[in-house]
Amino acid sequence: MIDLFTQQRHTELCEEINHHNKLYYNQDQPEITDAEYDDLFRELQKIEKAFPELVTPASPSQKIGAPATEKFTPSPHAVPMLSLKNAKSAEEFHDFDTSLRKTFLARSEDLEYACEMKLDGVAIELTYQDGRLIKASTRGDGFVGEDITENIKTIADIPHILTAPYPELLDVRGEIYIDLADFQTLNRAQEDAGDKTFANPRNAAAGSLRQLDARITAQRPLRIFCYGVGRMHGVKISTQIETLQLLRTLGLRVNLEETTCASGVDEVISTFRQLQERRDTLPFEIDGVVVKVNEIALQEELGMVSRSPRWAIALKFPPRQEQTIVENVGLQVGRTGAITPVAHLKPVTVSGVTVSRASLHNWDEIERLDLRIGDHVIVERAGDVIPDVVKVLAEKRSGNEQLIPLPTKCPECNAPVHKNPDEVVPRCNNPHCPAQLIERMKHFVSRDAMDIEGLGEKQLTQLIKSGKITDVADLYLLSKEDMFAMERMGDALAEKLFLAIATSKTQPLSRLLFGLGIRHAGKNTTKILARHFASLDELAKATMDQLITIHEIGDKVAKSIVDYFGNPENILLLDKLHHAGVQPQGEAVIQQDGPLTGKVFVITGTLSKWSRKEAEELVEKAGGRTAGSVSQKTDYVLAGENAGSKLAKAEKLGVEVVDEVTFAKLVGLKPNELG
Ligand code: IVH
Repeated sequence: MIDLFTQQRHTELCEEINHHNKLYYNQDQPEITDAEYDDLFRELQKIEKAFPELVTPASPSQKIGAPATEKFTPSPHAVPMLSLKNAKSAEEFHDFDTSLRKTFLARSEDLEYACEMKLDGVAIELTYQDGRLIKASTRGDGFVGEDITENIKTIADIPHILTAPYPELLDVRGEIYIDLADFQTLNRAQEDAGDKTFANPRNAAAGSLRQLDARITAQRPLRIFCYGVGRMHGVKISTQIETLQLLRTLGLRVNLEETTCASGVDEVISTFRQLQERRDTLPFEIDGVVVKVNEIALQEELGMVSRSPRWAIALKFPPRQEQTIVENVGLQVGRTGAITPVAHLKPVTVSGVTVSRASLHNWDEIERLDLRIGDHVIVERAGDVIPDVVKVLAEKRSGNEQLIPLPTKCPECNAPVHKNPDEVVPRCNNPHCPAQLIERMKHFVSRDAMDIEGLGEKQLTQLIKSGKITDVADLYLLSKEDMFAMERMGDALAEKLFLAIATSKTQPLSRLLFGLGIRHAGKNTTKILARHFASLDELAKATMDQLITIHEIGDKVAKSIVDYFGNPENILLLDKLHHAGVQPQGEAVIQQDGPLTGKVFVITGTLSKWSRKEAEELVEKAGGRTAGSVSQKTDYVLAGENAGSKLAKAEKLGVEVVDEVTFAKLVGLKPNELG
């Protein structure tokens, strides 16, 4: 029997935690510390463990985060963002071309078309006034989008300041996307952190852009290709290709190398076929080719019809979906112990590639699909060689299909499996689980981490089985003989591998940090950390407070880093790496020949002329570096309105404090660039 007091306390805790979730996830304004939050959460879990009948779907123990209640501010487009008509075959494009020439332009000669890759991402608009990024929005319904300026400002590809000379007012349109390799890394990180994985790069890009906390967007590997303009004051341009060239000279990222100018239908179709052939070799997902009449004067003459321009069309590639059967479901143990279900499929060819596996991500996904072993399913290769199960064909069931239970034991080491209520995957918590060790090693040597070529899963398994390596540091203690002793390893290969391991000792710090697999510290985060900390030692000493002063680092990441360096086992591993000769190269941003080379700035208070990020960019462009907190090493503090404790500290330490006008001079801005 639950006593009244416990029941009341449970209700209270639910309300309180929900309140803090909203503050943290939706408003970015937590009122309590993470530790205080954890205490409340633990108390709730303790009560629910004793009285499982209190666990309802409404309990915060059963949910992740908080529902996105706050919407983004509506942001109207001065020039509507149109959509495109599609052509599904060469014939349809032929008809399109004929109708343009005969019906609308009355001409017999070929039209010149700009053929661009159709990136599969999210359309956005950037507005620059006097060369400065003042607004960014999603497409929305084409007339009104959502204001996502703060999120967009975290994307490294997007300049906050254009290269002069620039149009007074400029709306740039482009596609935000995620590279396939980054998408896979991101999904692995999501999986490791117990967060939901994304079905494809497009969803990942869309989800990342619509975060209420810009710090989360900052961690995502978002990229952009710009492909068009809305308003553009004071510049006359005569072709689409020239528009792209202009955007590039302004400092915007444009996919000009993959844009062709085609004359007439046949050249367009041949461009389309060539791109279709190359589709699987590209670093990002494209779903077709956008064909645009190149001459702007002709575009204007053609105009638009029902929300699409008459002068452009999308030639879409056929979908990459097929039907097959789920023969079994296996379990995979990741490097942090996360256990993911994998569907073993009856092999099927999906647009030229045979597939026999599909990740099912987690049990929520299995439940959402209502998937069982033996089911007929639709699989899709969505920007990944490993396909996704997108749909179950329930009508084809025979009745013999089997449910897929949550595992209770690790399939690799038999240790009991736990599932935290705030995670979507169950985990094996045995740190010595061989499956985790091999995954940690694979991650450490992978291309984005220490990039050691020649050490694949087979070689690593052999080394682990023979007892030669028990952690990543052991790699650096291997002798040439150890390598030579491996199966199918000749002299030359052993020599090459030995060299590859040795050269990796001086990889950049960001790569080592990424390779260590610190939770929540993905590729982007580790790059950011390496820009701010000159060495591993400096990072190891960093406090929560210091870490969260870095613009893109939030509480969760900061805590994970502090935890990592606070764990004696990790310190032993780092010591071992150090003694084995691993000396990562610092990457703190210091340019060689700017007016501020070697100088360290701290920016504090509200600035009137620039955003914090813009001011940081100006410092970096001038060769200086910014830091989050004031110390003896700080050369200047730029103090805006309401500067608080940092200003006081600067005064105490005798660090030079400058205002915005002096700052502008220091970073080498001319008076007319002052904004
Ligand atoms: S032009 C009026 N060019 O495809 C012109 N769109 O409906 C409209 N897209 O979501 C767009 N790559 O974001 C254009 N090179 C490209 C594109 C592109 C991808 C997307 C666009 C929109 C959809 C078109």
